[in-house]
Amino acid sequence: MQLNYLRRQRPVTDDLRRSIQEDLPELADIRDVDLRTKCVEAWAYSLSHSSFLRIRDLPPEGNPGQSVLIRGTQSDHLRGVTHLAVKIADEFIETRPEVIINRDVVIAGGLCHDVGKPYEFDPENRARWGRDPSVSGLPSLRHSVFGAHVCLAVGLPEEIAHIALGHSMEGPFIGISAECMIVRQADHLWWTVAGALGLLKSETIGHMGTMLQPRKARSA
Ligand SMILES: [Fe+2]
Repeated sequence: MQLNYLRRQRPVTDDLRRSIQEDLPELADIRDVDLRTKCVEAWAYSLSHSSFLRIRDLPPEGNPGQSVLIRGTQSDHLRGVTHLAVKIADEFIETRPEVIINRDVVIAGGLCHDVGKPYEFDPENRARWGRDPSVSGLPSLRHSVFGAHVCLAVGLPEEIAHIALGHSMEGPFIGISAECMIVRQADHLWWTVAGALGLLKSETIGHMGTMLQPRKARSA
């Protein structure tokens, strides 16, 4: 039996790579060229095994049906998390010179932490899993787990695969690196503050608890 996602691979083209660089311009901030290239390959691998043609086509959600942005794209989330993570890192680098933070890993981890979402969010996968969850689960693998697979499959270092896995619900079950903690906190902060500022569909934030009282946002 062959894995379903392997049967569905489209060719990885330079157009696809270009779209990834357009959707994630912060890739250019990664100084290590090999790391930068492999981040592009990770997204190309993930998208090419899914129904989505580019990152912007992914639903702008934290998890399927949860924390759904009223407007914007998944690339807004990835970029916002990366900006926040870099700001957190720089705050400590500037004020506590004794700390050691790999800034490239923070940027690459921010841009790739959700690289497994094309698999978990894919409508075809969700329809297949939904038909009978007793066969391979619902989902069979969360985006964090599939993301770790993607990172390792394209040769990204384990530091980035670890961030893909540890940024989400799996984090508390493993020991997490300093850079993973920075990206994880930036990710949770981004969704929580987006909820508080009225940027999320109210019916999709119940999982955040009653503490969140969304302010009404201006109409765009
Ligand atoms: Fe995220």
